[in-house]
Amino acid sequence: MLEKKFPEGFYWGAATASYQVEGGIENCDWAEAARAKRVPPCGIACDHYHRFEADFDIAKELGHTAHRLSVEWARIEPEEGQFNMEAVAHYREALLALKARNIKPFVTLWHFTLPLWFSESGGFERQDSPEVFARYAAFVVKELCDLCDHFSTMNEPNVYGSNGWLRGSWPPFKRFAVTDLVSITNSGRIYEAQATQGLRPLFLYLQVMKNLANAHNAAYHAIKQVSPKTEVSVVKHVIVFAANSNPFNKLKAAVANYLWTSIFMNRTHHHCDSIGLNYYFYTQFGDMRQWKKTDMDWNFAPEHIYDALMMLAHYKKPLFVSEGGLADHDDSDRAEYITKQVTGVWRAIQAGADVRGHLYWSLLDNYEWALGFEKRFGLVEVNYDTLERTIRPSAQVYKEIITQNGIVE
Ligand code: BGC
Repeated sequence: MLEKKFPEGFYWGAATASYQVEGGIENCDWAEAARAKRVPPCGIACDHYHRFEADFDIAKELGHTAHRLSVEWARIEPEEGQFNMEAVAHYREALLALKARNIKPFVTLWHFTLPLWFSESGGFERQDSPEVFARYAAFVVKELCDLCDHFSTMNEPNVYGSNGWLRGSWPPFKRFAVTDLVSITNSGRIYEAQATQGLRPLFLYLQVMKNLANAHNAAYHAIKQVSPKTEVSVVKHVIVFAANSNPFNKLKAAVANYLWTSIFMNRTHHHCDSIGLNYYFYTQFGDMRQWKKTDMDWNFAPEHIYDALMMLAHYKKPLFVSEGGLADHDDSDRAEYITKQVTGVWRAIQAGADVRGHLYWSLLDNYEWALGFEKRFGLVEVNYDTLERTIRPSAQVYKEIITQNGIVE
């Protein structure tokens, strides 16, 4: 019998994000973009806003001991500097519901969508955006820190910046033409706007990335002022760029990893108590293999989460897998994906990475941004006509892993 056991107290669960599941959010930049027909409408999504109790019952039934959710900035601060206590009360209820089920919450303060007042006044292009964000972050933590001890400031700054300012496929739809030549991901190509001429989008992108790092750092310190014990992390999307033995390809991979992961982490890792990893992509320069693909047309490479974790282990902080998963409409590959991904996490722990938890993306099928509702990432299937939930078979395989606290073969 081969056992791949995880450390005692390792957290197991799944993740969601407010805009993708809650429904009914109309005062943010994505809702505005949908009204302008630049991205698909989100509508009531999974109506998780009203069904969170039942959804958390499912998480409990599936053995989850942790759950990552995000709070919606546009609900909490609908006008600049004005905070809505009803929204706060809602998220307090959600956290209490997790507590009642003995599920540890990981709360993300901002997962891609911006309140309209902020996006319309320049969003993260604004010079004072770090302070604006830090004020919001500190407010939320002050209101929720008795119910949650772990907050992530932001989700995937590099994905946000590159889709918004280089690819132009997400709000605010600024596109730098050269990006088309190097894109490896699928974030909704058909919605891309015309490229802006010249280098302006590139300069704006660089400015935004700097502001995002500063916003994280400012939020870290603002949070520590209101609640010194709260653990604060950033959720970083890591693409593993690898290479065959060709030295030129090795150089390309090193540069790509530096641009995508190191720059942001070098700016922020001194202001993190831990780091969340979102892992979806492995790509090798000079690779002639025909990869099996997920429904997103991404390489099926769950085991390479190992490389992503080892990249982050370099910063010598506790790590957790804040996302990792695949779109798989008929659930034919998900169990294999999860098992291999968990094996990759286990290998990273054996190699010295201090990984504390694993949160599959996602608990529910949900709104996959510019691609709408077609892609199915959930452990739980959502019927968008009836909103009925159906647990997929792969969720039971994950439950078995959780029950064993590892893989027993
Ligand atoms: C994001 C999620 C998204 C998932 C799948 C991550 O980049 O944080 O919001 O749904 O990947 O594309």
